[in-house]
Amino acid sequence: MAGTQHAQWSSRWAFIMAAVGSAVGLGNIWKFPYEAGEGGGGAFVLLYLLFVFIIGTPCLIAELSLGRRGQKNPVYTMKSIATEEGRSTMWGLLGWSGIVGAFIIISFYSLVGGWVLAYIVKAAMGFGGFDAAKSTETFLTFIADPVQPIVAHFAFMAITVGIVARGVQGGLEKAVTVLMPALFAILVMLMIYSAVTGAFGEALNFLFRPNFHALTGDKILNALGLSFFSLSLAMGSIMTYGSYLPKDVNIPKSAITIAGADSAVALMAGLAIFPIVFAYGLNPGGGGGLVFMTLPIAFGQMPMGEIIGPLFFALLAVAAITSSISLLEPGVSYIEERTGWSRKKVTATIGFAAFLLGTLSSFGQPGNLLGDLTFFGGMTIMDVKDYFTNNIIMPLGAMFMMIFVGWFVSRKAMMDELAIEDKNFRIWYFLVRFICPVAIFAVFVNIIYDTIIQPMMG
Ligand code: TRP
Repeated sequence: MAGTQHAQWSSRWAFIMAAVGSAVGLGNIWKFPYEAGEGGGGAFVLLYLLFVFIIGTPCLIAELSLGRRGQKNPVYTMKSIATEEGRSTMWGLLGWSGIVGAFIIISFYSLVGGWVLAYIVKAAMGFGGFDAAKSTETFLTFIADPVQPIVAHFAFMAITVGIVARGVQGGLEKAVTVLMPALFAILVMLMIYSAVTGAFGEALNFLFRPNFHALTGDKILNALGLSFFSLSLAMGSIMTYGSYLPKDVNIPKSAITIAGADSAVALMAGLAIFPIVFAYGLNPGGGGGLVFMTLPIAFGQMPMGEIIGPLFFALLAVAAITSSISLLEPGVSYIEERTGWSRKKVTATIGFAAFLLGTLSSFGQPGNLLGDLTFFGGMTIMDVKDYFTNNIIMPLGAMFMMIFVGWFVSRKAMMDELAIEDKNFRIWYFLVRFICPVAIFAVFVNIIYDTIIQPMMG
C-alpha cells in the first residue's frame, strides 16, 4: 500500500455542498418528476420522502461513518475496518463492487451529461417552431449521430476529470461551493417563472394530491430504489466523501441536512417542470424524453424561451457534473492510494477509460452504429449498464453494507463514530440492523422476480 496523505474537506459547509452535489443530479431533475407521475403523483411523493428519511438516511449515516472510520478509499476502508473488528478481509469486496459500479454508472451518466451540454447549445440557438414531431426528430437524430454525442460526452468527461484532478480542496470543493448555490438560484428562478406563467395549480395537484389507488407494489419499490439512487448510496461515493470528513463533524446531523436538501431539490424540480408540462399539454409520463423531447416545445413557445431554455439545461449540467465527480472519486482514490501515481495521471486514465466504455452506450442508441444490438429482449447497451448497477450492485451493496455495520462492526465503534444521544443511537441501530436490510432485500427480490423470473415463466 503506497501511502499518499489522505485529504480532508476544509469545513462542514464544503462537505455538505459536495454531498448534496453528489446527491442532486439527473436522478432528481428528470427521474423523480416522471416516476412520481407514473406512480400516481402525491402518494408516490409521500412514500419517496418516507423512504429517504426512514431507510435512505440511516444508510447514508452508516456509509459516511464507515468512510470516516476507515480514512481511505472504499476498498482499504472496508478491509481496515474488517481487520480492526476481527472479520474477514473479504469485506473489501464491498469496496470493489462500489468502485466498479461507480465506474459503470459514470460511463453512461457522462454520456447523458454530454447530451445536456449539447442541449445548452441547441436551446441557445432557439427552439422556435418546435412541435412534438420536430422535437422528437431532433433528439432521435442527435442520439443516432455517431460523432456529435461522443464529442459532447468527451467534453463532459473532460470537465469532470479537470475538477477531480485538482484534488479534494482545490477541485471538488471549489467547484461545488460555487456550482451548488448557482444551481439553487437557477432553480428558484425557474420555479417562479413556471408558477407565474405555467399551470402551477395543476402541478401542485399532480405532485401533492395523494392518490393511493395508483400506488401498486412495483411503484412502492420504485420509490425505494429512487431514494437510494438519489442519495448516491452504495457505490463508494458517499464512503469516499466520508473519508475526507474531519472528526468533529456530526454525521447524523449532516446526513439529515443532505437528505433534506436532496428531496427539496427533487420537489423544486417537479415544481419547475410540471407547470410547463401542463401548460403546454405535454405528457407527464414522458420519461427521459420529458427533458429532451418535450420541454424544447415549451421553450420554443414561451416568452424568453431562448434564455430560460439554456438556463434550464445549464442547471441540469451543473447537477450532473457535481454528481459525476462523486462517481469518479472512489476509483481515483483507490488507484491513487494503491499505486502512488499522481492524482492527475490517475484521474485522466480512469476518466478516459470510462469515456471509452461510454462510447458503447452512444453507439448502442437506436439508429446509431450498434443500434441493432440489444440484449435480454430489447435492452440497449445503456439499459444493461443501468440495470446491472441500479438493480443489482446497488441493492446488494447497500444490503451487505448495512449487515456489516449492524452485525459485524462492534456497537461501540459505531457509537464512537456517531457521537449521538443514546436514544437516537438505538433508533438508528435498530433501523440499520433490521429494517434497512429487510426493506432492501424486498426490493431486490421484487426486481429479480419482475424482470427475470416472471418473464421466464411467461
Ligand atoms: N445521485 C445522483 C443523481 O441523483 C447520481 C449519483 C451520483 C449516484 N453518485 C452516485 C447514484 C452513487 C448512485 C451511487 O443523479
